[in-house]
Amino acid sequence: MSIAEKFVSMEYGPAPEDSKEAEAWLDRHGRHFGLFIGGAWQAPAAGEYFDTVDPSNGEKLAAVAQSGAADIDAAVRAARAASPKWRALTPHARARYLYALARLVQKHSRLLAVLETMDNGKPIRESRDIDIPLVARHFYYHAGWAQLLEQEFSGYEPCGVVGQIIPWNFPLLMLAWKIAPALATGNTVVLKPAEFTPLTALVFAELCQEAGLPPGVVNIVTGDGSTGETLVKHPDFDKIAFTGSTEVGRAIRSATAPSHKRLSLELGGKSPFIIFEDADLDSAVEGLVDGIWFNQGQVCCAGSRLLMQESIAETLLAKIRDRMSSLRIGLPLDKAIDIGAIVARVQLDRIERMVAQGVEEGATCWQPQVVLPARGFYYPPTLLSNVHPTSIVAQQEIFGPVLAAMTFRTPKEAVELANNTVYGLASCVWSENINVALHVAAQLKAGVVWVNCTNLFDAACGFGGYRESGYGREGGREGLLEYMEPAWFKHAPALPAERARGVTQVEERAEAGGPAVDRTVKLYIGGKQARPDSGYSMEVRSPEGLLLGEAPLGNRKDIRNAVEAARKAESWAKATAHNRAQVLYYCAENLAQRQGEIADRLAAAVGEKQAAAEVELGVERMFSYAAWADKFDGAVHNPPFRNIAIAMNEAIGTVGVICPAEAPLLGFLSLVLPLLSAGNTVIAVPSEKYPLIAADLYQLFDTSDLPNGAVNIVTGHASELLKTLAEHDDVDAIWCYGDESTVASAKGLSIGNLKQVWTNEGRHIDWFNPKVAEGRWYLEHATQVKNIWVPYGE
Ligand code: NAI
Repeated sequence: MSIAEKFVSMEYGPAPEDSKEAEAWLDRHGRHFGLFIGGAWQAPAAGEYFDTVDPSNGEKLAAVAQSGAADIDAAVRAARAASPKWRALTPHARARYLYALARLVQKHSRLLAVLETMDNGKPIRESRDIDIPLVARHFYYHAGWAQLLEQEFSGYEPCGVVGQIIPWNFPLLMLAWKIAPALATGNTVVLKPAEFTPLTALVFAELCQEAGLPPGVVNIVTGDGSTGETLVKHPDFDKIAFTGSTEVGRAIRSATAPSHKRLSLELGGKSPFIIFEDADLDSAVEGLVDGIWFNQGQVCCAGSRLLMQESIAETLLAKIRDRMSSLRIGLPLDKAIDIGAIVARVQLDRIERMVAQGVEEGATCWQPQVVLPARGFYYPPTLLSNVHPTSIVAQQEIFGPVLAAMTFRTPKEAVELANNTVYGLASCVWSENINVALHVAAQLKAGVVWVNCTNLFDAACGFGGYRESGYGREGGREGLLEYMEPAWFKHAPALPAERARGVTQVEERAEAGGPAVDRTVKLYIGGKQARPDSGYSMEVRSPEGLLLGEAPLGNRKDIRNAVEAARKAESWAKATAHNRAQVLYYCAENLAQRQGEIADRLAAAVGEKQAAAEVELGVERMFSYAAWADKFDGAVHNPPFRNIAIAMNEAIGTVGVICPAEAPLLGFLSLVLPLLSAGNTVIAVPSEKYPLIAADLYQLFDTSDLPNGAVNIVTGHASELLKTLAEHDDVDAIWCYGDESTVASAKGLSIGNLKQVWTNEGRHIDWFNPKVAEGRWYLEHATQVKNIWVPYGE
């Protein structure tokens, strides 16, 4: 046999990582773990435990406490008690604790990596070289933010006590993504690891003790979904942060709707992996190995949908099959292994079920000849080709080592296929043509786009989804904002009940045949004045009861028309920032010219003094957001790889706005303008107190070059219109400024497409104070960050 032949036929011998230290750690604890509450270990109140299992062989590793309501309550009380002192520490003191945790993670990295692999089944190469180093990086990065907090976020406060629920695919990394920013910003936490993978969180609890972290700052409660459910419903959390399935994300949105708990959700994905014909195909195939076979494909941002340009499809599929044949699947602790075990039997069953359904729906299934270990949960790398874009395997998250391949012809078609999903977490674009790659990246609806690379993560680059992949970001500056609020907002008084209910109830009646009134306005949809579908209008009266005019009574059909018009107003979304600034300046100029007459009319509803102030500040606010249009820029990150990550502040899309009742003109402008400034299109429901303001506004917009459909105004009963807006799948976000019950229903009604909901939490906002009523806080909510990673170097 020649050397060349030997080289090809050479087999790897086993190279198992030593698990002695991890076994010793388990034995030291008698393979039996309680809960970490208030800095100490305690048994669960109900005395219940469950087993955590090594998926590589199905054997029990340890018994872990199943927390119930009493345990959650104890953990929340410990976190609440620890909160005042923790938040009062100097930024430097908090930074020192985070720094100590980072050092301890590094010091114990071997134990953590081995234990992670034993509990989860992921290859040791991944836990050792990716998961654990990223955990340390996250704590270092956030130690830095803790240090800089007062300088960079003056006027912000921590949320308070945060409940965090994490999944099993990156157990310790997800813990780090949750705990590091929460602690850096001065919150205390109760974290629940996933039931399949609780062990490294328990080591982390010990590291907290070793670091001398004050008792109660971090509490770890183990348990299953029912524990998660109990946690979410506990009334004393200020925020819930969740990573996991979209289905559970929806349940959590619904459960937290009646409360003031802030919510961030990092959910599922079905991320496209787009390969153009001019791509470096061998690199793209290597990228794909990381994209879909990393962590057995149990990755929320896995590149699970391969979109290949038709001209290279056959060549590419041959290369992929070839590469798949050399992937090594086997015992996760073996250092030469590429693919380890699936986390649990239920997950394996789910993968098998979905692949079978995909084949039934017409996909061709190809798997390399591999011998799977006799025990444990394994699934071979799998390629599904001829997949129809509507097939279950093209639409739903499989969360396994299964790639679904489809073809496209043009870049336009690639974008359409890529975006043809309810998700929007990540995406990959492979092309040697940087113009094409960046052009496509800009059009993808996803929080992360990797150009000619895949699955790169760094603490400095925010990660999170669009659409049903959730909201909020983890990492980066934007990730910190998920754990803080401006003090003025947090402590704003609740809207007084009479004010909250302060809508003049008016009779509905047919438009024709009513008494003559001063002023009749119309709806404003797609740049045209429109009669309401119902044919009814409502009387608008002054506080003294004088009839001021009639406003149309919009209904669900009108809202639907308005949403359609807003979605069509693409020219606004695509306009340059300079162009948007010009239009907003022009609006301001026109408002200034009509200042007197508009104030006179508004005075009948809110009094002369307020009316004059609303119009005058309205002009200023327009100038302000015209100024912001070309200044609310993103950032360029320089992560520790040969990459840059371009963080773009992108418009959210089509946003429904329920305007505040108390300041009919200024409240409308304060919410609609930041959205427009950032490039969103809007459907606004003006204050029921004085909806007649709509006529002044549409006259203004009509004469100011605003594209048709960029702003649509539907008057009527806010609560009814809110329902249609919040339930509409083509609305990407709701801004609802009203009383407690209105904002609660906005949150609860939004679960269909998991649209972002931003509200005043039923609080009174002083629209007349520019320090609180305009600026970055609003623009941050009007945008979402997309990180585009671009490699450099030969
Ligand atoms: P899951 O979403 O049920 O579990 C994630 C976490 O949520 C766990 O800690 C679990 O105990 C907790 N949980 C479950 N039900 C809850 C509830 N009602 N309220 C509060 N917390 C609750 O995910 P699961 O069942 O482990 O996996 C099912 C599928 O979800 C997977 O096949 C995969 O498709 C997807 N998934 C997606 C993840 C992602 O990061 N995108 C992570 C984990 C799962």
